[in-house]
Amino acid sequence: MKFADSFLDEIRARLPVSQVVSRHVPLKRRGREFVGLSPFNKEKTPSFTVNDQKGFYHCFSSGKHGDIFGFVMETEGLSFPEAVEKLAGDAGVPLPKPDPQFERVAKERLGLLDALEAAAVFFEEQLKAREGREASAYAERRGLSPATLKAFRIGYAPGSTDALKSTLIKKGFTEAQLLETGLLVRPDDGRAPYDRFRHRLIIPILDPKGRVIAFGARALDDQAQPKYLNSPETALFDKGSTVFNFAEARKAAFESGELIVVEGYMDVIALHQAGFKNVVATLGTAFTERQMERLWLTAREPIICFDGDRAGEAAAARAIDRMLPNLREGHSFRFAFLPDGSDPDDLVRQEGAGALARCLASAKPLIDVVWLRELAAEPIDTPERRAAFEERLQRLLAQIANARVRDHYRREVKDRLFGLWREKRGAVPGKRPWTPTKPAGGSKPPSAQGFATTVILALVNHPWLLDRFAEDVGSLEFKVKPFAELLAFLTRTIFEHPGIERGRLAELLAKSNHAQLLEKIDQRSPFTRVTFLHPEMPPEIVEEQFIELLFRWRALPTLKRELHELADQLSEGSDAEYEQFTLLQQQIASAGSRHATDDAGDREFGEKFEEKIAQVAREKGSWHKGRRQVPRN
Ligand code: UTP
Ligand code: MN
Repeated sequence: MKFADSFLDEIRARLPVSQVVSRHVPLKRRGREFVGLSPFNKEKTPSFTVNDQKGFYHCFSSGKHGDIFGFVMETEGLSFPEAVEKLAGDAGVPLPKPDPQFERVAKERLGLLDALEAAAVFFEEQLKAREGREASAYAERRGLSPATLKAFRIGYAPGSTDALKSTLIKKGFTEAQLLETGLLVRPDDGRAPYDRFRHRLIIPILDPKGRVIAFGARALDDQAQPKYLNSPETALFDKGSTVFNFAEARKAAFESGELIVVEGYMDVIALHQAGFKNVVATLGTAFTERQMERLWLTAREPIICFDGDRAGEAAAARAIDRMLPNLREGHSFRFAFLPDGSDPDDLVRQEGAGALARCLASAKPLIDVVWLRELAAEPIDTPERRAAFEERLQRLLAQIANARVRDHYRREVKDRLFGLWREKRGAVPGKRPWTPTKPAGGSKPPSAQGFATTVILALVNHPWLLDRFAEDVGSLEFKVKPFAELLAFLTRTIFEHPGIERGRLAELLAKSNHAQLLEKIDQRSPFTRVTFLHPEMPPEIVEEQFIELLFRWRALPTLKRELHELADQLSEGSDAEYEQFTLLQQQIASAGSRHATDDAGDREFGEKFEEKIAQVAREKGSWHKGRRQVPRN
């Protein structure tokens, strides 16, 4: 709806900016202006100013600037018309009289809202009545407290076909209205319309202003189909722009700057009960552009926390494809990965709020998730496959409509590819021994501490690695004492709890006196660490990376010895072969000098490990095997 300038000016004239702002931000007068702490950034000295004469606020810390309408949109997550409507109400300025057609529609909408509100009240009463006993028992079984039931206005739809219908008709609503709200269903065979929701737990869905616009209805019996029955799309309920619990969550999100996005009704409700008030749900539908815009009004990087199962993973993958075209400066999403097979509701109920908080704290930026998704999609062990990987990434980045964001993504991906290919070449001998590579100047050699922290992160996130590599890990000696102690703690704990899960290990760690050190460890950047940090990473990739990690740090002396042996055998080879050999020698020598600073002294690394490396090298199609087969003349 378009508003006349004179109408907007009238509201501005009646509501000084300082009055609107001071509901959210305590202000102090300073000369002609008011100052306060920025509501957009955490700060200690006030940099947020309001000027009533000019009718504007300006925030020096975030650069945000606007009038009363902009302020309400920013801080309460409203659209422009919603902000105007709200402030017109505050100012006592009547909304402009729309044309009769519009007025009729508005009245009808009001009638529908009233019907939905009356239905919500009816369902709430039914839950408390005798009819609702089974439903209350169900709610109790799911751990919902009376306060939670009240906060979400949870109710019960009785089993009969006209309990709601007859009640609302008595209250004066028409059958046509009830059909339009989706509360009644009209059967095809001409019989009378009947109640859509029967014998289900009822969860009202509210619009951003907190008005009931639809319902979700959970079957009490897990076998009943469908599990959830929802209101159809109506004049009031537009599924593509609705997110569940937005009205409530945006207040909390505004204070913390964080918003959590989950998949289901019960996830929101359980999280709310566990103290996370800033949670909304997408309700099993595809993530739309309009939903994204809604979320971005409240938080710049909402955290997507989908179920830790295949469906959740697929939903996250679909969400990524929808996000890319819409990214813009400063606005993105982060992803938190739940333990296998659990949804947020399960996690807080079984392991407590702390487990979820930890999960949220380790949320990854979109770029990491895109990168890992493509990396995990196909092996990258041949040049063609590596090229395909690059191509997939380029195609994805091309979808980013915002040129600046796209450009930064391209640069980042380029850097990551550079690092990845270098790592691949350096890691396994003979992978591409015939490709002359520039010695990797510029980038810093990884430090011994980098190696130690990576091994630790790998074990923390994938405790099962210790079963596979017990001896290798056992023979590691970290020179820095706190790291050595943390490693000892980890190996002991994992051995003492065979098959221990990541979550449980994290709990034990949190209780130990090593927790602080772990927190200090930089959990970002190098590719290998990202692999180990990602709980969903396929075990084959984790394992491969772990072998490469150990190999890279421990095997250079072995490699050099093998090189000498090879030189003896090659002495009779062709010129071309000899050239290849020299190239390889140079590569290894330069890799060796990069590593020499740290661990090259560990010559006695143990027969076992050398065997393993040889085996890996064989499986990867190693160079020396190939060379040995060259017939001698
Ligand atoms: P889930 O199947 O993950 O259910 O669907 P849930 O949220 O864990 O539900 P509980 O814990 O078994 O009660 C996620 C969301 O998808 C929508 C609902 O919004 C649900 O919360 N959904 C699911 C439906 O609309 N219909 C269905 O039949 C199933
Ligand atoms: Mn669930």
